[in-house]
Amino acid sequence: MQYADITGWGKYTPPAILTNDDLATVIDTSDEWITSRTGIKERRISHINTAQMSTLAAKQALARAGVDAADIDLIIVATCTPDTLVPNTASRVQQLLGSNDAVCFDISAACTGFIYALQNATAQIRTGMASKALVIGAERMSWFLNWNNRDTAVLFGDGAGAMVLEASDVECGLLNAKLGCNSNSRDILKISNFGTDMDRYENPPKGLKIDFAGPEIFKHAVRGMGAATENVLTQAGLKVSDVDLLVPHQANVRIIETLQKQLKLTDEQVMVNINKYGNTSAATVAIAFCEAVEQGRVKPGANIISAAFGAGLTWGATYIKWGERVTPINDYVQTETECSQTALELLDIAIKGCQNEA
Ligand code: UT7
Repeated sequence: MQYADITGWGKYTPPAILTNDDLATVIDTSDEWITSRTGIKERRISHINTAQMSTLAAKQALARAGVDAADIDLIIVATCTPDTLVPNTASRVQQLLGSNDAVCFDISAACTGFIYALQNATAQIRTGMASKALVIGAERMSWFLNWNNRDTAVLFGDGAGAMVLEASDVECGLLNAKLGCNSNSRDILKISNFGTDMDRYENPPKGLKIDFAGPEIFKHAVRGMGAATENVLTQAGLKVSDVDLLVPHQANVRIIETLQKQLKLTDEQVMVNINKYGNTSAATVAIAFCEAVEQGRVKPGANIISAAFGAGLTWGATYIKWGERVTPINDYVQTETECSQTALELLDIAIKGCQNEA
């Protein structure tokens, strides 16, 4: 049996920044509330779509892995904000990269999507069904948001992260996972009436409605991520003291701190970047992983735990043993990323549209 070494890491974080103070000019909120309740200071608003963000993150990951896009045989995009439902986002990424013939599919598991995708790609490589995979978490959450609803508008942001996985004889990559879903709580985080649930002809919905029971999800998140992490540590035969880095889903810094306390980890052992990007759903873990490597926080052979939760309610944790290489083979400079508009300018039509619907 082979292993699935993580040989490339990349991210795309759109240039337009929406600060808490910017948000306070359009909805009834404040920097003080958002910072103290969530840890978020700012988030990014994308001027390009999910497939383009995915492609830019993937190009960086491929360059760092020294892998040619044409040699990729599997592309999985974890997203709940696809450009189109049919065809999937992964096929557009294949087209933009030129990875002809790669198997392409999207995974819809909301914020847990990236670790679901990573587990799936790893399993395919370990069983010999794929040899070089691109695993991407990408979201354009700003498209979904209701700018009249402060409960959710302040939490989310846009971005993408990617990893390249390659078959290897060395024992590394994702070695254990515990994933699951608590479907009894499907209704506490939901974009209702969007999909075939929608009344297409008689009474089509005007705006998107996000059902969101924040404090309930908070409790599930802490319980689900904690239990999955304990499970993965037991499977791997590891003690908490063996963990070099925790890369958690970035939904709320208070959720991360609770998990950190449960596991008795120091600040140095926990990757936090929610202050800069907010909750980018399936992209948070991928972006946080990428930044951890860029910042030298991932050492060769490091024991890394990642944990996430999201709508479904999906939840999970993974144990990753990093391989030997923590430096890029090549680098890729993202040049096609300029945006002449501010975040508020990009959102102007959406904000006015929501105000008209109110
Ligand atoms: O990744 C999956 C999705 N992520 C999540 O679901 C995150 C999980 N939940 C959370 O992170 C937290 O529950 C929130 C950040 C969403 C909310 O924090 P909280 O401490 O649970 O606040 P709360 O919902 O209990 O609201 C406290 C107060 C309320 O006012 P009253 O009733 O105490 O007068 C809210 O109306 O804060 C008010 N509030 C706001 N005030 C200013 C809610 N949103 C805002 C806002 N600005 N944006």
